[in-house]
Amino acid sequence: MTVGIPIRRLWPEPSVEPVDDAALTALYGRADRPRLRVNFVSSLDGAVTVDGYSAGLSGEPDKRVFGLLRMLCDALVVAAGTLRHEGYRAVRLDEGRRAWRRANGLAAYPTLVVVSGALDLDPAQAAFADAPVRPIVLTHSDAEPPPGLTDVADLLRCGTGRVDLAAALAELHGRGLTQLLCEGGPHLLGALTAADLVDELCLTVAPLLAGPGPGRITAGDATGPTHLPLRHVLAADDGVLMLRHARD
Ligand SMILES: NC(=O)c1ccc[n+]([C@@H]2O[C@H](COP(=O)([O-])OP(=O)(O)OC[C@H]3O[C@@H](n4cnc5c(N)ncnc54)[C@H](OP(=O)(O)O)[C@@H]3O)[C@@H](O)[C@H]2O)c1
Repeated sequence: MTVGIPIRRLWPEPSVEPVDDAALTALYGRADRPRLRVNFVSSLDGAVTVDGYSAGLSGEPDKRVFGLLRMLCDALVVAAGTLRHEGYRAVRLDEGRRAWRRANGLAAYPTLVVVSGALDLDPAQAAFADAPVRPIVLTHSDAEPPPGLTDVADLLRCGTGRVDLAAALAELHGRGLTQLLCEGGPHLLGALTAADLVDELCLTVAPLLAGPGPGRITAGDATGPTHLPLRHVLAADDGVLMLRHARD
């Protein structure tokens, strides 16, 4: 079924036919090995936010792919900064997407994984309190949880003094969570890039100039460039581009 604003393939194999959800599912898919996929939306001039939030960059086609990528993953990885700032709620999928997961041998919902060093997290935040699957908080050996956090989430400690992201991903893989979707934010993407852990970037480019001020989709200490080949380009009828870049 095709819903809302049509999305079409531009590259490879351009087509004037809108892609339906089954075709989108095939285009993004699941990998046959552990994979860290990162999903972001940015403006044409590289801004990660408008008025401080990603919502000003995201329209219906981006939300459609955003939800589809959640359907495809085992775990949804988000940094504490984005969880707090964007007020993350519990992961929800509609019945069609839950049915797709069941038919493909997956749990009805992906597991939320929150990356936090300071553990300045609110157990009452809906992302924890209403979670359909008990979330995991990735932290390090020195971090002290606030009261109530371990009532609503499991702590996974990797690293001393800071979260060791490579070790953390290996732990998640060992728990059967191999298809990882990271929704940011920029400091987490910067750290994952520095550790050479990003297998794929799905980037929605919104057709607007945000102007000076906002940051980029990545932040933190400078690292060298990493080549990430283009895999597909989709365009929605509202002028949004959707790029998928991935390692071999
Ligand atoms: N356009 C988009 O697609 C998009 C997507 C996501 C976010 N955003 C925007 O990005 C902004 C927030 O991003 P941000 O860069 O400030 O924060 P962020 O990357 O979301 O979170 C940074 C936090 O992650 C935790 N962390 C723990 N270990 C880490 C490690 N090894 N490396 C990196 N982070 C680690 C730390 O939390 P503790 O403080 O708990 O230690 C750190 O303060 C918001 O404005 C949000 O709206 C936009």
